[in-house]
Amino acid sequence: MPTPILTSPLPDLLTHTDGTPVTKESWSARREELVAILAENIYGEMPPPCPVQWVVSESEMTCAGFVRHDTVKLILHTPRGLFTFPIQVFVPTEAENPPCFLLLNFRDALPDRYFPIEEICNSGFAAAMVCYEDVTRDNGDFSDGIAPFLLDLPRTEATAGKITLWAYAASRVMDYLITRTDIDTAKVSLIGHSRLGKTALWAGANDDRFFCAINNMGGCAGAAVERFRNEGAETASRIARVFPFWFCEKYAYWANHVDEMPFDQHFLAAANIRADTPRRIYNCDAVLDRWANPAAEYLSVCEAARVFALLGEAQPFGGVEDTRIGVPELFIAENAEPFHVFGSRLGYHLRRGNHFLSRRDWVMYMTFLSGEKG
Ligand code: GCU
Repeated sequence: MPTPILTSPLPDLLTHTDGTPVTKESWSARREELVAILAENIYGEMPPPCPVQWVVSESEMTCAGFVRHDTVKLILHTPRGLFTFPIQVFVPTEAENPPCFLLLNFRDALPDRYFPIEEICNSGFAAAMVCYEDVTRDNGDFSDGIAPFLLDLPRTEATAGKITLWAYAASRVMDYLITRTDIDTAKVSLIGHSRLGKTALWAGANDDRFFCAINNMGGCAGAAVERFRNEGAETASRIARVFPFWFCEKYAYWANHVDEMPFDQHFLAAANIRADTPRRIYNCDAVLDRWANPAAEYLSVCEAARVFALLGEAQPFGGVEDTRIGVPELFIAENAEPFHVFGSRLGYHLRRGNHFLSRRDWVMYMTFLSGEKG
């Protein structure tokens, strides 16, 4: 049975830092270890939550009158004063207690190509959106947006990078969403594409209130196991050089010493698994998106399945022995066969086409969250 060829052995999810084996009972402690390792070495420390107020600044009916659209201003009472950012919320009025998506998006203007509001609402889901650059700009300026309100500057080794600040904002949006009475607040799923897929997973690792963390092609520093090198895939050393501000400063060291890392990106997927909540995780890749290293993301999903199995919730993924990841070309050949695997807690699909958050992906997410088996 082919197994992935790794540049060095993967740090084991099911062994505690002190070398003792992880048991079902000790998973919660292990999960906390994973979050601490990821904060210290990759993303930086998550600032503590702050109180949130809000004002619905505009409310209208849209989509032929079937959907309520609220523009809401969130007011964060940070330790250094008030910081505000807008979000958009769409709720189908014909659905009772609809589950909801929270999209971390690249742009603030609507309509947006990553956000098919009408289709989502017509399928019985509500949908909220926050534009990440309304939180803080996607650059190395830490005097921008929310950053100076939360961080002690200048930054030190463990200070949060921008991914952590965007994830922090997702949690503050959640503070607001759980107060709404027109959505199923136990079923708010966080979704992000690419750099925001990385962010969705990190937010899910830090906040147990998200029902599902959806990583759409997050790739390097997302779910892609760094030690599983495949043709055309982004490397840690490149991402740390080009986007150093996404991470804490310590990551720059590890990015050039990958085989010494006491972690890998399967820790991020697994840090989303809670013993005591019905948390789900979904990952998607595209065959023309070699940059995101699809087979390496799938490996993380398989690793996450080992944790679910330990918790007594077996998922239909094969662990590292999964025959697919032994043949990474299956994920990136132009004629690769798309496939999907849906478990009760873990979902994955590989689709044709390139790097994009497409209607096809949304359909898969909605199907998975509707509880249908693939
Ligand atoms: C770049 C970056 C990726 C990232 C992507 C995106 O390609 O190298 O790591 O995921 O941008 O966010 O679109």
